[in-house]
Amino acid sequence: MEKERLYQQLFSISLTPMLIMNMDGDIQYVNDACSHLFKMNKESLLFCNVFNDPKRFFIERSEVDALRRNEEKVVLLKKKVDNQFPVHIHIQRTDQDIPFLVVQWKEFSSSFEKQEEVIRKMKQYKQFVKQSQDAFIVTQEGRIRYINPAGIRMLGGKRKEEYIGRLWLHFIHPEHLDVVKERMNQLMKGMSVHPRVEVKLLTKRGIVTIESSATKIKLKGEEAIQYIIRDVTDRKKYDEMASKSEKLTMVSKLAAGVAHEIRNPLTAIKGFIQLLKASKQYNEEYNDIMLEELNRVESIIQEFLTLAKPKVEQQYSVKSLNHILRHVILLLDTHANFRNNQIKSYLEEDIEILCEENSLKQVFINLIQNSLESMKKGTVTITLEKRNGYGVVVIEDEGCGIDEQSLARLGEPFFSTKKTGTGLGIMISYQIIEQHQGHISFSSQVGVGTRVEIALPYTTKKPVKI
Ligand SMILES: Nc1ncnc2c1ncn2[C@@H]1O[C@H](COP(=O)(O)OP(=O)(O)O)[C@@H](O)[C@H]1O
Ligand SMILES: [Mg+2]
Repeated sequence: MEKERLYQQLFSISLTPMLIMNMDGDIQYVNDACSHLFKMNKESLLFCNVFNDPKRFFIERSEVDALRRNEEKVVLLKKKVDNQFPVHIHIQRTDQDIPFLVVQWKEFSSSFEKQEEVIRKMKQYKQFVKQSQDAFIVTQEGRIRYINPAGIRMLGGKRKEEYIGRLWLHFIHPEHLDVVKERMNQLMKGMSVHPRVEVKLLTKRGIVTIESSATKIKLKGEEAIQYIIRDVTDRKKYDEMASKSEKLTMVSKLAAGVAHEIRNPLTAIKGFIQLLKASKQYNEEYNDIMLEELNRVESIIQEFLTLAKPKVEQQYSVKSLNHILRHVILLLDTHANFRNNQIKSYLEEDIEILCEENSLKQVFINLIQNSLESMKKGTVTITLEKRNGYGVVVIEDEGCGIDEQSLARLGEPFFSTKKTGTGLGIMISYQIIEQHQGHISFSSQVGVGTRVEIALPYTTKKPVKI
């Protein structure tokens, strides 16, 4: 009770004119400074209604409507008293069961201007968050405290009440729970986290893939995490579709070369069998040649089928870059010969990398195929070297080259100068190499040829057997 009296005294002796009124404008309490401002004693002020006397109090009922409807907590008005000195009227809504409005009159001062500016900015920010296409979610102790309309839409709901108070982790796909928990812990400890992560959510609309960034903030004085989230499900689907269609084109293009290359040894084998049949004698040498040819046919078919098979789950393992390149070259040799081109390779260095083998094969096939397609008759040279922690694959051709304008457009989806091109190969190659924390660079001279460098970080871990 001591405290209460102290507060009453503070209210009463404050130099700032203050009054407390109910939502209808009936004055409940006034302080000395207030009665001084309005040149009325306290008792008569207590009989007044603020809204009924706007000339005296400078507050129109309509100006505080947002407070009365609980859409705002504070309203700031700037008025001139007696056409002389400007005052700021600060009206605040209390948080009780029966709320009141606390009105304070302040002389115009720069600090108030600042406060007004802050309030204006806060309003703008609130509006921005409300209208944003990105989802904004704030959690405290793991529970959702705020969610904007885009967030509600993303989770497939209709009203914020469906989500406020619920555990945020509840919406995270089990696959990503550990990552998200770890990020939350690190953020709360004040550590920096990777600015953006891709996470799957379980929503009423099904599984949604999002990209989110998280920051630690203060909400009503307590620590909280603010998430800004973008739904990337559609973009992922588009990427997958592009990747599939490029793969289909690649596989169908390769098929012609593969068929051609298989037909040659088969003709040879057939010839030997006919010879054997005619001579009715066993011939060791013929047998060896036939077996060798059959082995080659078998490995080409096997390589082709691994590539043509739909991708299941991306699995990273340590593989030898030389090995991967040799396989790709085996497959493309057929294609190159078919087109009067040749592939030369210098793969002395043994380099191990952590990778998704088939995706990398797809990149090398894309790029070597581009080189082959750029030449009428020529050589593609493939070398492999170690440079600053990277295994660098260099693919050089003697083809038509790429002019400066086109060079700048490489990697743009559907950018192609070919009649039957998809314009997706380089885009997908960029994506795959980026997923491997590597990079690709092109240099080219029109009429001379093109050089592509693919750098991939190598590992010192033991290789897993292929
Ligand atoms: N080695 C190269 N030599 C000349 N032009 C190339 C080379 N690699 C790529 N390009 C150019 O880049 C374009 C895009 O390549 P890509 O994304 O693989 O699509 P596509 O091969 O289906 O056209 C090609 O159409 C071509 O103009
Ligand atoms: Mg291509």
